Amino acid sequence: MFRRSLLPLVRPRPSDAPGLVYDSGVEEDGLILSGTTRLPATGETYPVKGGYLDLLGGRLGGDNVANLTNFLPGAGRGYEPLWRVRSLNLLTGEDFSNEREMEIIAQKVDPGRGGLYLDLGCSAGLYTRNLANTLGDAGDVVGIDISPSMLHEAARQARKAGATPSFARADAASLPFADDSMDGAVCGGTLNELGDPARVLRETHRVLKPGARLAVMGILKARTPNGRRLQRFLSTGGIQFFAPEELEEMLDAAGFEPDLPITHGAVFFAAGTRL
Ligand SMILES: C[S@@+](CC[C@H](N)C(=O)[O-])C[C@H]1O[C@@H](n2cnc3c(N)ncnc32)[C@H](O)[C@@H]1O
Repeated sequence: MFRRSLLPLVRPRPSDAPGLVYDSGVEEDGLILSGTTRLPATGETYPVKGGYLDLLGGRLGGDNVANLTNFLPGAGRGYEPLWRVRSLNLLTGEDFSNEREMEIIAQKVDPGRGGLYLDLGCSAGLYTRNLANTLGDAGDVVGIDISPSMLHEAARQARKAGATPSFARADAASLPFADDSMDGAVCGGTLNELGDPARVLRETHRVLKPGARLAVMGILKARTPNGRRLQRFLSTGGIQFFAPEELEEMLDAAGFEPDLPITHGAVFFAAGTRL
C-alpha cells in the first residue's frame, strides 16, 4: 500500500525529479494497493505488490549479515509476537509496554505538528501504524525497510489496526525521497543494525525539513564485561552499539541539535532537531 499523493516525492535516486507517477493498478481511498508506478524521466517501473512499493527490485539493500535474518520466511509474522512485545521488558529490566515506548517516541518526534513522517527500518510497522493512527487526517507516515517479509507483515498489521500508512522497500542509506520533504522521522532499533549509521543520519537530515524532529530508540553499549563480550560477538554480524555521548556526537555531525539521550537499562531514546 502506498499513498498515491506521495509519489511525486519518491526519487529512486536523489536526482530523479519530479518523482514517480501512477500507471495502473488497484486503488482504494487514495492508497495504491497493487499496481505499477513509473519514473517518467527514464521509463523505469516500480511495482506496488505484497503491501509495499518496491524500489529495490533484485537488490538486497543494507550491508551486513545481521540483516539477512530479516529475510527469512516467517520473520515478519514472528517479529512482534515473539520478540517485540517483550523486548523492552528484557532490555530495560522494567515493565516497558509498547504503549509506554510509543508515548516516549511521540513526545520526542512531536506528531502534533502534522505532516509527513518517516519510519526508518519499520520491520512489522509498530511505529508506522501507531504514528499513522495518532496523526489521522493531519498527516501521513511512510515506513521503509529492506525486508519483503517485514514489509508484507507491516502492511497486514496496519490494515488490521485501521491505519493507512505507506510502505516502501528501500535502503535507509540512500533514502528515495526529495530533499526537505518530511516533517519528522522515527527509528526503532534500526540504528544498531545499520552498516553505516552516520550516513543514514545524514540522509535523514537531507529529507527532513528544517525544524523537524528525529526520534531514535536503540541499544546502548554494554557497561559490564559479560555484556561487552556478548556485544563483541554480535558485532561480528554487523550489529553496533552506542554510548549516549556517541549518539549526541553522531546526531550533531549529521546536522541535528541533539537532546540529551534518555536511558532505561540497556535502551536509549535519542532525539534531535534538524538544523
Ligand atoms: C530492529 S529492526 C526494527 C524494528 C522496528 N523499527 C520496530 O520498532 O519494531 C531493524 C529493521 O531494519 C531493517 N533494516 C536493516 N538495514 C536497513 C537499511 N539499510 N535500510 C532499511 N531498513 C533496514 C531490517 O530489515 C529490520 O527489519
